[in-house]
Amino acid sequence: MRRNGREPVEERGASATFKRTRRLRRSAALRGLVRETALTAGDFIYPMFVVEGERVRNPIGSMPGQFQHSVDQLGAEVDELRSLGIPGVLLFGIPAVKDAAASGAYDDEGIVQRAVREIKRHDPAMLVITDVCACEYTDHGHCGVLGDGEVDNDRTLPLLARTAVSLAAAGADVVAPSDMMDGRVGTIRAALDAAGFSVVPILSYAAKYASAFYGPFREAVASAPAFGDRRSHQMDPGNVREAMTEIAIDLEEGADFVIIKPALAYLDVIRVARERFDVPIFAYNVSGEYAMVKAAAERGWIDERRVTLETLIAIKRAGAGRLITYHAKDAARWLAEERAMAHTLTAASATHD
Ligand code: PBG
Repeated sequence: MRRNGREPVEERGASATFKRTRRLRRSAALRGLVRETALTAGDFIYPMFVVEGERVRNPIGSMPGQFQHSVDQLGAEVDELRSLGIPGVLLFGIPAVKDAAASGAYDDEGIVQRAVREIKRHDPAMLVITDVCACEYTDHGHCGVLGDGEVDNDRTLPLLARTAVSLAAAGADVVAPSDMMDGRVGTIRAALDAAGFSVVPILSYAAKYASAFYGPFREAVASAPAFGDRRSHQMDPGNVREAMTEIAIDLEEGADFVIIKPALAYLDVIRVARERFDVPIFAYNVSGEYAMVKAAAERGWIDERRVTLETLIAIKRAGAGRLITYHAKDAARWLAEERAMAHTLTAASATHD
């Protein structure tokens, strides 16, 4: 007889009494029954890069499987995402010309503005989130207007506000400022409200670290700073309390939800934020995290599928409700295969009973 999950000593011999936690791991069905965190394609937001031109699909060297797409390619991409169950995209643009004022960022005919309109025309229900930052549009690669050799915070704010309004006018469902300037969320909120876009939410990259994991992204959009780095505005990797301050400030200024970025080296930040704040928290599984998995998988050093799904579930388990990830399409396909497999197994065991 068993009591409290323990084997009585008399039945097991003198060996010991112990708890049998393995009982709940014996079969796929049992493991599924007690799994605390599950991934679905609906958890993913897929980041995409948009370039000028027609019929362009440029592979990004350091991000195998990712491309720069011209606007005319977006309809097909969105169809694929929809068929995989992925609900949204996060758009980045590579403009034809970059200048000191980042004018491509707030041009109503800019690359991302046109991309938003094309996606919304093609599939109005596809969720379109647009990054708001100057770094893809400045010739020097910095996140704002320069003054005295550094990013001038206060002169950058109107540029960001104008960009957000222009993207909202193009039809963006959500704007996501990633620049880490002080006061940006409040400035953007006020500008959106004044322009009649009080319904457009702000997804703020509230806790964005100065990270080497953004390396491949900067190749993808050619946004590496011409001099210096981003440590004067992005956060120091040693800090977690400071991330909570950043999130609190952004929420106070009017952010509706927040991003923590990168994800994998910052799972503790996600966890602490999840416990502290009652708003949706997204994690950005960034380009360098993706590139490492791809590189090791190409060499046959790791099992790409298992490592990817394990990575994504870890980010969700840490407390992120949604994941912005370049793995989105692959992961959605693998999850669909797993579901199909589970059904086959269940059906097979049912017929054998
Ligand atoms: C800034 C921005 C960056 C990323 C997203 N938005 C780069 C940076 O701060 O240098 C990085 C995303 C990634 O690495 O996947 N516009």
